[in-house]
Amino acid sequence: MRILAIESSCDETAASVLSANKNQKPKILSNVISSQIAIHAQYGGVIPEIAAREHVLNIIPVIAAALANAKTKPSQLDAIAVTKGPGLITSLISGMETARTLAYAWNKPLLGLNHIEGHIYAAFLNLKRKVQFPAIVLTVSGGHTLLAVMKEHGELKIIGDTRDDAAGEAFDKGAKMLGLPYPGGPAVSRAALSYLSQFSEKPKETLGFPRPMLNSGDFDFSFSGLKTSLLYKLQADKNWAKKIEQYCYEYEEAIFDILIGKTLKAAKKYQAKSIIVSGGVSASSRLRKQFLDKSKIANSKLGVYFPEMSYTTDNAAMIASAAYFRLSRNTKVKPWQKEKVELNLSL
Ligand code: KG4
Ligand code: ZN
Repeated sequence: MRILAIESSCDETAASVLSANKNQKPKILSNVISSQIAIHAQYGGVIPEIAAREHVLNIIPVIAAALANAKTKPSQLDAIAVTKGPGLITSLISGMETARTLAYAWNKPLLGLNHIEGHIYAAFLNLKRKVQFPAIVLTVSGGHTLLAVMKEHGELKIIGDTRDDAAGEAFDKGAKMLGLPYPGGPAVSRAALSYLSQFSEKPKETLGFPRPMLNSGDFDFSFSGLKTSLLYKLQADKNWAKKIEQYCYEYEEAIFDILIGKTLKAAKKYQAKSIIVSGGVSASSRLRKQFLDKSKIANSKLGVYFPEMSYTTDNAAMIASAAYFRLSRNTKVKPWQKEKVELNLSL
């Protein structure tokens, strides 16, 4: 089975080819990403209109490169997969319309995939050991902070969501307040690591960031209060510019405590055998280490899974993976079916 996947939900134009032979694990043959980060960084965030125009320019060359890198001719494809939502509607449309046109022209089945399903299935690529179900799945990206229970492949139930900002958004907006570049997550990460390198053991926190909703009794998140608390602390601190690294470290600790605390509570309640952490924020090496350490303390039998680094932020290999697992579950896919662009979030 060979799948061409296309992803254009935000500011990355991406295409990937996945191949899977009977009784073999799926293999990513190509994973091409044209990132617009350098363009949007000038404005401190994604400008939807510019993103849309860039997708139009890049989508065909990116797909052509993905097919060429995978040494795959269109006639060898069994299906085309595309992100149908959630995301920026003006960005999604480029991928959707291109996928529809190619599926029609090449007479291939077309699958519309949920972007978050893609982030989750990124963790299933190149797995070293099988995921035991039920699993608690945390997806943390620039647009989402979602907790779900995965009973089996394709059986996802959302148990928690953010009530305001996403975790990645808290990083991006916090970084902006601290004068750090977009995207904020990697910049805050680097500054926090630099701060930590001065200490031989875990430094004491002195800035007093709150952990909103950590003990709310449900699995929802809220990060806007934490972001406002950073703003007020900076306004009250004349010397904040000399303490940027400390601010980054303690702000990051607050976000990580909430993410890990809630996920472990969910794992306990749903008697999970595994935890899967995916999305752009899962690229953080400190978040990964803390997840591994704290899960081990909570339940030494819990398996903890992350996507490989190249599949954490937006890419099309994750959409190809989600499509592969969907097709392996024998979902009926008609040749060229019209997939609707989704605006709401449903898995
Ligand atoms: O999954 P993604 O590429 O896009 C969305 O679907 O939103 O995630 C992007 C988010 C950004 O908010 C970025 O700041 C964050 O992931 N991010 C990180 C790191 N690398 C990317 N956050 C924390 N630490 C990182 N190392
Ligand atoms: Zn994403």
